[in-house]
Amino acid sequence: MLRVGFLVSGGGTNLQAVIDAIKAEKITNASIEAVISNNPNAYALTRARENNIDALCISPKTFDTRDDFNKALLKKLREYRLDLIVLAGCMVVLPKELIEEYRNRIINIHPSLIPSFCGTGYYGLKVHERVLERGVKITGATCHFVDEGTDTGPIIAQKCVEVLEDDTPEILQRRVMEQAEWIIMPQAIDDIANGRICVVDGKVKHIK
Ligand code: GRF
Repeated sequence: MLRVGFLVSGGGTNLQAVIDAIKAEKITNASIEAVISNNPNAYALTRARENNIDALCISPKTFDTRDDFNKALLKKLREYRLDLIVLAGCMVVLPKELIEEYRNRIINIHPSLIPSFCGTGYYGLKVHERVLERGVKITGATCHFVDEGTDTGPIIAQKCVEVLEDDTPEILQRRVMEQAEWIIMPQAIDDIANGRICVVDGKVKHIK
């Protein structure tokens, strides 16, 4: 059984998609052991509690130094003996040590087709604002492993979504979530839990 932990900051709709997929047995061999938020008011924490999943807040604001926060986060993650860490709307910059320790065991969901509209400054609604400004016709989402860069790790899955003429950033964000994020993130977790993917030379290979 793959022990999965989530790092979140907000609404947690991607977390919900994974909870639902586990219940529906679309994801097998995986269990969510903990949901950790830097934001005490994140609705993702409520979603976790409603599903009897440990829900914790570890906020940098409650520590004297960033280093103290990093240590506390790392300690907590180790306590849960996680096999996979899922970033789902996580707005915290991860400690380097965490990325090294969990190499190819941390995944993120990004709301564009990487390498477009990604990197520093591209998060949340900003991504969709830039997509609309540029007049892009096709966007989507990418699920990828996390490395030291911003949105640079090996790509696991991508799904495209049509941009429509009357879209606002909010409407487009919702469509990207519904048609891409909530599908490829659970799929990626199921693939990892069932040993269907590996990373070779910095690229994800799907094992037949
Ligand atoms: C999603 O749009 C995701 O792509 C981005 O942050 C948002 C998280 O939404 N990384 P939620 O908290 O899962 O609802």
